[in-house]
Amino acid sequence: MSVKKVMIVGAGQMGSGIAQVFAQSGFQVILNDVTEDALNKGKASIEKILTKDVTKGKITEEDKSKALNNLSLSGNIADAASCDLVVEAIVENMDVKTKVFQELDRVTPPHAILASNTSSLPITEIAAVTNRPEKVIGMHFMNPVPVMKLVEIIRGLQTTDETYETVAETAERLNKTSVEVNDFPGFAANRILLPMINEAIYAVYEGVASPEDIDTVMKLGMNHPMGPLQLADFIGLDTCLYIMEVLHDGLGDSKYRPCPLLRKYVKAGWLGKKSGRGFYEYT
Ligand code: NAI
Repeated sequence: MSVKKVMIVGAGQMGSGIAQVFAQSGFQVILNDVTEDALNKGKASIEKILTKDVTKGKITEEDKSKALNNLSLSGNIADAASCDLVVEAIVENMDVKTKVFQELDRVTPPHAILASNTSSLPITEIAAVTNRPEKVIGMHFMNPVPVMKLVEIIRGLQTTDETYETVAETAERLNKTSVEVNDFPGFAANRILLPMINEAIYAVYEGVASPEDIDTVMKLGMNHPMGPLQLADFIGLDTCLYIMEVLHDGLGDSKYRPCPLLRKYVKAGWLGKKSGRGFYEYT
């Protein structure tokens, strides 16, 4: 199957970025969300990025209007009835996601593939609530989606080769590089990244060095473009804690225990950039 029309469910940070890259790559895209406000914000953020790209000379005015013409907004999930692929990018909560997948299973045509952009929830468990587990897969984009080249494709226990190949080919058409990953807690990206971030937080907690100096070590010493604590602030400390809990619960090894300082910051409402304060302050 060659995918022509897609629905992106969730018009937040990730969903709007995913919708943008699909629209720019010539796919017909329906961006779906539960509120009109979220849809308008998602569309405005796509327009803003495309306008910036035109100003920078990265794309032409014509590229921008072509992309915007490929994009439509819908508050009705039943509009997925015309789609070959759905990419879900809503809140990271199993109950909410499984409800949406049951609904998608009901409204989409039998050939449609249902993908989740989840950072950490098991694809196999999401697939199990549908009548087409062989067509359910993880399509994990990185933030910011238009910039980052990687897509982790996660095979659930029952995902077929055909589903995998269609999604891998779709990722290629988006000009992304994909990797094949099996369904384990944190997949590959967050299994490696989050323990590093958690260890950097332990280093602050134990007084090894200041947040600034730890970030400098990793930037200048290891050539990372961003230090782990600044990156944690960008991801959101609540999200970091959530993923560490998934690793700890799912793998059962104490090496994944979340640092008490991370818990304390989240309890204080210091969630990083989005709340104005994390390891750094944001005005
Ligand atoms: P976000 O909070 O920016 O956006 C979520 C959107 O989903 C909101 O607009 C909300 O109104 C909408 N939504 C909630 N329930 C809905 C429903 N039932 N139907 C339709 N829309 C609904 O969240 P964000 O950061 O975009 O994350 C979305 C997903 O992407 C999560 O699963 C997250 O783990 C994953 N992810 C996030 C990354 C990040 O850096 N933020 C990176 C990679 C994956």
